[in-house]
Amino acid sequence: MQRAAARALRGARSPPVRMRSVAARSPPRGLVYERHGEPPAVLQLKDLEVAELGDSDVHVKMLAAPINPADINMIQGSYAILSPLPAVGGSEGVGEVLEVGRRVAALRPGDWVIPADSGLGTWRTRGVFPEELLLKVPRDIPVLCAATLSVNPCTAYRMLADFQPLAPGDSVIQNGANSGVGQAVIQIAKASGIKTINVVRDRPDLPKLVERLMALGADHVITEEMLRKPEMKEIFKSIPKPRLALNCVGGKSTTEMLRHLQPKGIMVTYGGMAKQPVTVPVSAFIFRDVQLRGFWMTQWKRDHAQDQQSLASMIDALCQLIRRGQLAAPACTEVPLQDYKVALEASMKPFTSSKQILLF
Ligand SMILES: NC(=O)c1ccc[n+]([C@@H]2O[C@H](COP(=O)([O-])OP(=O)(O)OC[C@H]3O[C@@H](n4cnc5c(N)ncnc54)[C@H](OP(=O)(O)O)[C@@H]3O)[C@@H](O)[C@H]2O)c1
Repeated sequence: MQRAAARALRGARSPPVRMRSVAARSPPRGLVYERHGEPPAVLQLKDLEVAELGDSDVHVKMLAAPINPADINMIQGSYAILSPLPAVGGSEGVGEVLEVGRRVAALRPGDWVIPADSGLGTWRTRGVFPEELLLKVPRDIPVLCAATLSVNPCTAYRMLADFQPLAPGDSVIQNGANSGVGQAVIQIAKASGIKTINVVRDRPDLPKLVERLMALGADHVITEEMLRKPEMKEIFKSIPKPRLALNCVGGKSTTEMLRHLQPKGIMVTYGGMAKQPVTVPVSAFIFRDVQLRGFWMTQWKRDHAQDQQSLASMIDALCQLIRRGQLAAPACTEVPLQDYKVALEASMKPFTSSKQILLF
């Protein structure tokens, strides 16, 4: 574990990339970047060399891996942690174990694994990783759920659990509600009897999006513009004002969302899609004593590296929701690896409303 902690301090936990092919079987392929820049321009699909299997290593065949905003920022060079270059893109995904080193006890061929930390480099067909960088997940959940489990549902789960004690009937407000995290928040909250007010950007096909989020369990879906309208009062006739606000946008929409928090409510910022700061009216501090907090799943995992039980019980709770049909994979588009450019471009466009998932 000390080795893991030292590596964590250095940045993303990815094994070095070797790009010569090995002869033994057809070489694995991966999306490699040698410099930071716009992902469609700097990523290239290349043959990779699989490192020799060490005693504590695991050889994994990747099955599916999503493209998340953090992956884009990492490749652009603007994320909080960066992989040493050259690097394989992707921090999330699910793979199947092909073989394990002599000292690997917790995994065996056929198991499904997901990354334990950011920056593993999941956009590859195969790879050899140290056992400590992988987590076993059950094989009885859909592959798309497993591929998207380690980041967004975990983030949603922690934000609902760790900041404000919430009881059935309480409410939560969130922006970016159609994001992967937002969809997980809606479903996890619904399963716990917590009401959600979901803010999205206006768009031509808004009714379709509203219908989709309501079908997931959203109680209210509103646009950013509606946050300022008197109609908001109607919502609070049937549900209490939120005790928790979840913000992944920033800028004006966040300021407006904050106005609806209960006194002593907490707003957790976990993303900044609008790339604008959060502005808070002083009255929110003085007269309502609101609290502003932040959350980063990567930090939570690192802080709990010695407490595997917390991580295991969260994964277990999420898998149970999946099995009960209460937590589905995000709306997504499955894209074969060779069409990665199309997927990258779609993932960076506004109003796509569909997580791009690379299939290997
Ligand atoms: N802190 C953490 O631990 C953590 C963990 C997971 C994710 N995140 C962050 O959470 C955010 C969502 O991630 P995700 O994977 O769930 O996203 P996603 O599924 O890829 O969806 C992106 C979301 O961002 C919205 N968006 C994009 N540009 C926007 C803008 N200028 N203004 C308002 N909304 C905008 C999109 O809305 P439209 O449909 O309107 O375009 C969509 O709802 C990202 O910032 C990500 O980095 C943080």
